[in-house]
Amino acid sequence: MNDNRTEVQAIFDKIAPVYDELNDSLSLGLHKIWKQMAVTWCQPTYGNTCLDLCCGSGDLAWMLAKWVGSQGHIFGVDFSPQQLAIASKRKPSLLAEVSPISWVEADALNMPFADSYFDCATMGYGLRNVPDIPGCLEELYRVLKPGATAAILDMHRPSSSQLRGFQEWYLERVVVPMARNLGLTKEYAYISPSLAKFPTGLEQEQLSQKVGFVKATHYPIAGGMMGILVITK
Ligand SMILES: C[S@@+](CC[C@H](N)C(=O)[O-])C[C@H]1O[C@@H](n2cnc3c(N)ncnc32)[C@H](O)[C@@H]1O
Repeated sequence: MNDNRTEVQAIFDKIAPVYDELNDSLSLGLHKIWKQMAVTWCQPTYGNTCLDLCCGSGDLAWMLAKWVGSQGHIFGVDFSPQQLAIASKRKPSLLAEVSPISWVEADALNMPFADSYFDCATMGYGLRNVPDIPGCLEELYRVLKPGATAAILDMHRPSSSQLRGFQEWYLERVVVPMARNLGLTKEYAYISPSLAKFPTGLEQEQLSQKVGFVKATHYPIAGGMMGILVITK
């Protein structure tokens, strides 16, 4: 992914109609489990006001909405209007007690919220796509309350050479061909180069501490092919 936000936004607008379906098949449904882990680790409680940054079609926002119940409030933020349109059309199951969700079209680097506004936050597969990772962590720090925790889930290059080989094979031989069938080769071919540039878990911990987070721990999952950075202000 490059620094051209309009281009990145156009990519996510374009893939919006097939994004959920592709995610389900490419991760064999596991992305939902990893997202539940991120939600649990940002420690939402009943009545909280929570942020789901780079919310896309809203998986994490809807999970948070169940945790915090009708007295809470979730804000799903994304700069892709097409992703937000899909997120806002989703409906909770009839019996679920969920909080209201506000879908906000905004840049992750410049959010329209007051300082210290949120009790917790999630971010799924967004950090790798923003043009300024330290700037995004700074903005997240600004909008979280002191003591609040954010959990940031993303793909990583595993340190094991065997798993790295498997990941490269999977991206080249499974993900890109599947995307090609949908006319989205370019949109999915960016994943591999974006992983090469993405800071490692340790580097992300260091960047977070530099921004001011008092606690920052990166947990590798799926053999290091995924990871969750848990940071507390
Ligand atoms: C890979 S999708 C992840 C969506 C969702 N969080 C999930 O886990 O399924 C990344 C999302 O980040 C959004 N995004 C990327 N850069 C952004 C930015 N600078 N500001 C706001 N949203 C951004 C994209 O529009 C896209 O919806």
